[in-house]
Amino acid sequence: MSDISRTAFEKRVKRRIVGKPHSFYAVVAPGLEELCVDELKALSAEIDIRSPETRSPEAKSIDIKSVENGGIEFDASLADIYAANLHLRTATRILMRVDEFDAQSFSKFEKEFFNIPWELYLASGCRPEVSVKCSKCRIYHSDALADRITSWLADILGPVDETKKKQHIFVRGNNDNFVISLNTSGEPLYKRGLKEGSGMAPIRETLAAGVLSMAGYIEGMTLVDPMCGTGTFSIEAAMMSKRIPAGYFRDFAFTDWPSFMERRWEHMRSRAGEGIIPADKKIIYASDLDSRSLDLFKRNIEKSDLYDIVLPVQMDFFEISGKNFSGEKGLIVLNPPYGKRLGNIYQGKQFFINVCRKLKLDFKGWKLAIIAPGDFFSVRLPFKEMRLHDVFHGGLKLKVLIANI
Ligand SMILES: C[S@@+](CC[C@H](N)C(=O)[O-])C[C@H]1O[C@@H](n2cnc3c(N)ncnc32)[C@H](O)[C@@H]1O
Repeated sequence: MSDISRTAFEKRVKRRIVGKPHSFYAVVAPGLEELCVDELKALSAEIDIRSPETRSPEAKSIDIKSVENGGIEFDASLADIYAANLHLRTATRILMRVDEFDAQSFSKFEKEFFNIPWELYLASGCRPEVSVKCSKCRIYHSDALADRITSWLADILGPVDETKKKQHIFVRGNNDNFVISLNTSGEPLYKRGLKEGSGMAPIRETLAAGVLSMAGYIEGMTLVDPMCGTGTFSIEAAMMSKRIPAGYFRDFAFTDWPSFMERRWEHMRSRAGEGIIPADKKIIYASDLDSRSLDLFKRNIEKSDLYDIVLPVQMDFFEISGKNFSGEKGLIVLNPPYGKRLGNIYQGKQFFINVCRKLKLDFKGWKLAIIAPGDFFSVRLPFKEMRLHDVFHGGLKLKVLIANI
């Protein structure tokens, strides 16, 4: 590309992509939508207060348009989406809406698709991954449409360069109306980039963050995580308490886009880094019976500098008492094993009842968050101010109980 055409291209990217607000969609696990709305509102307020100087005059802060089961639609500028990817704890991914059109046939779809200035969105040689879902559309063959889009993108953007990041294009068709979106996040946001290996039935980080928020966990609060597995709750609480942004240890798809504002991103990331606070004492007590999960957990917190706030110990939950913890009574969070691993569902429920009895006996005055299958909560529980929330985990409908012990 000559210098003149590069400048013209950069101007088009600035005008069409960087310099105006776009419509975005935060994909959120069902049950966490309202928490994510709260996060978006808090982030928007923070952006407006803290960085008016870095915002282009046309850019708006995050403007929520609608909330539905599994997602939130909002308008924002691309720079705000860098912040959303970096900071949101409960969103799974953030999609950028590229276009919307009606198409009743492949040829109409093709015409509309080629009208999109793809070169402004995606870099040449990028690795597209196309996911298509059609419902009540005359173009009903989703796989055939995905194959065509992949080959059209290769025509537009040139042969794939394996060193580039994958770029996920989502196409959703409903009644012959198609919405084309790009995944700004890359890997799902529950992959925080600091865990290696996986334990037994780990909970997703986004759900763990959601459960902590539901229970009112705030920076500096004591947390007891006595069936920690690989420590998802503990790591989320440690990151909250040390003000480490959820996406601080990972990378995002937007950094490979032609619109990528590297200096602005570096500035945002380094300012977030300056906000991280060291802990003056350990306030997160993580324990489990399983030494393999604990070893993984210890390696992960060592790597990500969380040892100053987390104390991991191999211990049976039934041996612990709230009196063992110095300082304020805080939150005890549990994701006990259930179902198959304990043999059958009755044993799982009986184990759950024993856990609740033990909590009542030894953790008086503590806040409780416990996540388990819905029918476990049909028994009479000995706690106060109980609230139940529906959530989904690994395709299962579960409930989270928030209570005072
Ligand atoms: C569903 S897993 C928890 C997964 C964890 N939330 C994570 O994200 O990795 C249940 C955990 O409870 C632990 N566990 C079961 N019985 C226990 C007991 N009596 N004391 C301590 N841990 C126990 C298991 O070893 C397992 O790691």
